Amino acid sequence: LNNSKPVVGNTTETVAIGGSVVSKHIVKRKIQDFQPVRVLGQGAYGKVVLVKDQYNAKLYAMKQLKKAEILVLPDDENEKSQGGMSPRSKRIERTFAERTILSTLEHPNIVKLFYSFHDTDKLYLLLQYLPGGELFFHLKNLGNLEEDTVAFYTAEISLAMKFLHEKGIVYRDLKPENCLLNERGHLVLTDFGLSKSSHGGDGNFYSIIGTPEYAAPELLQGVAYTKSCDWYSLGCLVYDMLTGKPPYTGQNPKVILNKIMKNTLKVPYYLSEGMKDFVNAILKKDVEKRWNVDLYWDESLNKNRGKPADKKKKKKAGAAKTTGF
Ligand code: ADE
Repeated sequence: LNNSKPVVGNTTETVAIGGSVVSKHIVKRKIQDFQPVRVLGQGAYGKVVLVKDQYNAKLYAMKQLKKAEILVLPDDENEKSQGGMSPRSKRIERTFAERTILSTLEHPNIVKLFYSFHDTDKLYLLLQYLPGGELFFHLKNLGNLEEDTVAFYTAEISLAMKFLHEKGIVYRDLKPENCLLNERGHLVLTDFGLSKSSHGGDGNFYSIIGTPEYAAPELLQGVAYTKSCDWYSLGCLVYDMLTGKPPYTGQNPKVILNKIMKNTLKVPYYLSEGMKDFVNAILKKDVEKRWNVDLYWDESLNKNRGKPADKKKKKKAGAAKTTGF
């Protein structure tokens, strides 16, 4: 099969599954191959539609992104036109390049990208369909979650984050809408890569990231961010899952930004001591002091593997206290 010649109908196991090519041949797909079933979600960028592959009845979540909405990334502002390609089309190219990289990632807690294609005004991403919907839809219904449940989701997000960080990817935009549940109740992170896109507006940070409730203080100060900002955002999600609200709320983004940078964290009295420690550690404003998964992984868990006696000693000495679970 020639890559440049779309082949219709021959879509069996010769295609790219979750980005890994399972044969030498990649079959190009197009919008007509997929029948719309229903709208799953609508955002500023475009919409997500549940679609059925007309050749094998497989379901996908098709994300449609209006090219006009793929806006300037903060670090793209000074981009100059090169090689006859406008900065805008370069951005679109980059969006696709990023998609291609991400599509090669295989992790149970990261959404799989099966196909991507575009026409004149839209990009189409054929993603793994996650029938459990948004975690925060369930959180809203329940008010808050039990600590054990929070620990379970935190562990799943941490696994996905650790995996991404090891590949040199900072997620940067962890927020409730990006946490979906699969058919078995496992948490799957979605929507990374495009998370850098701006919503336009007045050039302030909150116009770039939308609502800032889950953003780390260092991101708001415009200083260089590191993977540590992802752990802070996870801390905000943990707090939200436990209490029904993110740690700092306010009438408008400016108020929230101020609180994130200046206010002291208030941890609810009713949480277990372990959970309080964890929330305090992961939501540290100081990047150097903030919890990250490697602290537990390297310094405690790995060393203690197969050495229960050591584990006991460490516990006594207060090591790994901040993990809480
Ligand atoms: N909404 C946004 N992305 C989705 C997905 N992959 N599955 C189900 N609903 C979604």
